[in-house]
Amino acid sequence: MKVVGVIGGPKTDGNTYKLVRAVLDGALEAGHTVVTWRLRDVFIGQIGYFEEKVLFPLDDFDKMQPDLESMGALVLGAPIWYGHVDTRTFNFINRTYYYSKYYNEENAEKWPSAQPVNIISYGRTEPDAYDGVLDWLDGVWSGYGMKKSINLAAPDTSNNPVESNKELLKQAKEIGRNL
Ligand SMILES: Cc1cc2nc3c(=O)[nH]c(=O)nc-3n(C[C@H](O)[C@H](O)[C@H](O)COP(=O)(O)O)c2cc1C
Repeated sequence: MKVVGVIGGPKTDGNTYKLVRAVLDGALEAGHTVVTWRLRDVFIGQIGYFEEKVLFPLDDFDKMQPDLESMGALVLGAPIWYGHVDTRTFNFINRTYYYSKYYNEENAEKWPSAQPVNIISYGRTEPDAYDGVLDWLDGVWSGYGMKKSINLAAPDTSNNPVESNKELLKQAKEIGRNL
């Protein structure tokens, strides 16, 4: 199975990246193929509208499409920015509107019923501070006919960075192994 990691946020080696990486490492150990997309390295444009038609930008999304259309699992990692997923992740999700049944039913057929794994990391200390964001992500994926999400949250990252949180990293790897 192909496991596609998509990482929002601008950091090359941040909390979010480390957790996504741990899930992907677990997936590799289980014998899956792994592909990583860092959203900071691709240009994803904005959706437009003209003469009553949705317009998609000429951007790098077409480079991601073959992986998205052939994935068995999607591991999405987003730092929380101002109470929601970071802007790159939000824009990426908007861009997947190409596969929405509300846009085009033929395109919607191409989006696989893959397993979503949603990973968020944030500064607030409560473990459930952004459960609403995880629920929202699960709702987006369920709209695309995907499976029920597996979620992982890393709270309090300024006092408890992911790299020193062995238990959380173990949990992430285990998620990957069980995909
Ligand atoms: C622009 C910006 C906005 C942020 N907003 C929030 C927020 O609303 N709530 C929160 O708990 N943490 C917030 N944070 C903290 C990050 O979510 C946290 O440091 C996260 O673990 C960063 O992940 P990274 O290391 O992968 O970049 C914000 C950080 C930045 C840079």
